[in-house]
Amino acid sequence: MLILLALAGYLLGSIPFGLLITRAFGLGDIRQIGSGNIGATNVLRTGNKTAAALTLLLDAGKGGLAVLAARALLDEQAAQAAGVGAFLGHCYPLYLGFKGGKGVATYLGTLLALAWPIGLLTCGAWLVSAAITRISSLSALVAAALAPIWALSLGRPPLALALLLMGALIFLRHKANIARILRGDEPRIGRKKT
Ligand code: G3P
Repeated sequence: MLILLALAGYLLGSIPFGLLITRAFGLGDIRQIGSGNIGATNVLRTGNKTAAALTLLLDAGKGGLAVLAARALLDEQAAQAAGVGAFLGHCYPLYLGFKGGKGVATYLGTLLALAWPIGLLTCGAWLVSAAITRISSLSALVAAALAPIWALSLGRPPLALALLLMGALIFLRHKANIARILRGDEPRIGRKKT
């Protein structure tokens, strides 16, 4: 049952909302725009804030839904497995030949549903970093690096381990962003990429 719920989480996480929403809004193929990522930050580069907000909500929502459904059907361990499944689905979606996004919104939705205080601390870290730097990718990296520390401090070692593994994947998925941050040419939030 646990494996089935993790798999269901993966299939749910595989839905590429950024791609579907930009198409539905007539904005073209998000993979050909800006960074080419299917996430909300890149959808915002189209200039359409509603499409970006919807992408953020639905990408986070699929992680949260996977967790809540698995918790209701089985237990906390299944909830964590389904949430990790949704995160992996977003990064490696079955429906897009396993070429997906960077996982940040789905990670946040999953974390909020797994442990909302840690989720809120992590969203807070993203917001503070974004307010200071105006760089979405850097803020995601800061938030993901801090999340396992919050989980450990609040007495959740198994969750801290899951966050450490998901965080490592978030860093890997941001390889190109990290190179741009180091070069000083990572675009700022809300600025269209030419
Ligand atoms: O959540 C994705 C964000 O951290 C980076 O997106 O489009 O700037 O590569 P992007």
